Amino acid sequence: MFDPNKLRKDFPFFENVKKMQGNNLVYFDNAATTQKPRQVLDSIIQYYSKENANSHRGDYDIAHLVDDKVDKTRDLVSKFLNCDKREVVFTSGTTMSLNLIAYGYGQKFLTKDDEILISEEEHSSNILPWYEVSKKTGAKVKFIRLVDGKITLEEIKKAISSKTKLISLAQVSNVLGYKIPAKEICKFAHEKGILVSIDAAQSAPHMKIDVKDMDCDFLSFSGHKMCGPTGIGILYGKFELLNRMDSFLVGGGNNITYDTGCNVSYLYPPEKFEAGTLNLAGIYGLYAAIKYLNDIGLDNIENYEKELKDYAIKKLSSNKNIIIYNKDSETGILTFNYNGVFAQDEATYLNSKGICVRSGQHCAKLLNDYLKTPATIRASFYFYNTKQEIDQLAKVLENGGNFLDAYFN
Ligand code: ALA
Repeated sequence: MFDPNKLRKDFPFFENVKKMQGNNLVYFDNAATTQKPRQVLDSIIQYYSKENANSHRGDYDIAHLVDDKVDKTRDLVSKFLNCDKREVVFTSGTTMSLNLIAYGYGQKFLTKDDEILISEEEHSSNILPWYEVSKKTGAKVKFIRLVDGKITLEEIKKAISSKTKLISLAQVSNVLGYKIPAKEICKFAHEKGILVSIDAAQSAPHMKIDVKDMDCDFLSFSGHKMCGPTGIGILYGKFELLNRMDSFLVGGGNNITYDTGCNVSYLYPPEKFEAGTLNLAGIYGLYAAIKYLNDIGLDNIENYEKELKDYAIKKLSSNKNIIIYNKDSETGILTFNYNGVFAQDEATYLNSKGICVRSGQHCAKLLNDYLKTPATIRASFYFYNTKQEIDQLAKVLENGGNFLDAYFN
């Protein structure tokens, strides 16, 4: 039985903050980063306190334990995504994964005659790497027209040309929370010989992902947005694509041999992309985080977050001062403004009442022109949030126009 109040007890953060501040903190900034359950914290401590050694370098028992955990984590991620283990690359997070695709594939294979298709609602990490590809190769970056904030297959069909070589999109927007029809996009793109890269930073923590069924070519996500630690993430890529790509990191652990004449032979993926010491504590934490989410069930998480989002819409819709930008989105992200109050002032006011939200442009700086507002407030939910917390948000927003209270009280 899915019980957020019971799950919440696994997160020492809430209890610790209550002890420090004397009140329950409402944490609604889960799209930025999530809290960590005890199981994840224990796993990180287990690495540093009992198994601290480097991986794939030591011929002693403790080092073998670490090798085993790296291998088991890769295996767990491959099952989480439904792919081959050789297609799972450890990175520092979604940003590094997307940069790796842009560098390793984009800069190597795209030319001035090619086009890359993205959208105005992408996170900076799924825009700027492609701008760099454009600067280095001359390839053009084109944008899909958004329809009511959504990406549709129809608009993708209109935006592609015979020059389009790659489409890179967030599966779920980090601002509006709309889901793209990823499977249909991949099917259509492949019929035209176009590759598809999916930024799953806001989807992998919240819903089941099957890369075989979706048939995307690349998929990227971060551990810290799914109860894991910061500094660890995943790049999934189809093996034959990874095999043709270059690594932007080279050094220890990613080569077979080299000589004084600059001749190098690199390992096969995924190790080819994993030069240097891996974030081993991060890998221990990610292992525990994925196990934790699997135990709850990704379908349960997705359904519950949708329930929270619908409840929030119902609660806030009666407040005439609230402008909601994504009433019909399918995920647990709610983006809004308080009429006449700058988003950051309103977020500061909410903070003064014990509610954490993100405000501003949310690293998606092209979207504000589309939304015709300089900034918005984002409340993003996770499975440990409750309807009572949404009631608290709705209640505080009844007086949300008194935002100067946050500065003078
Ligand atoms: N990408 C994270 C967010 O949307 C940081 O808040």
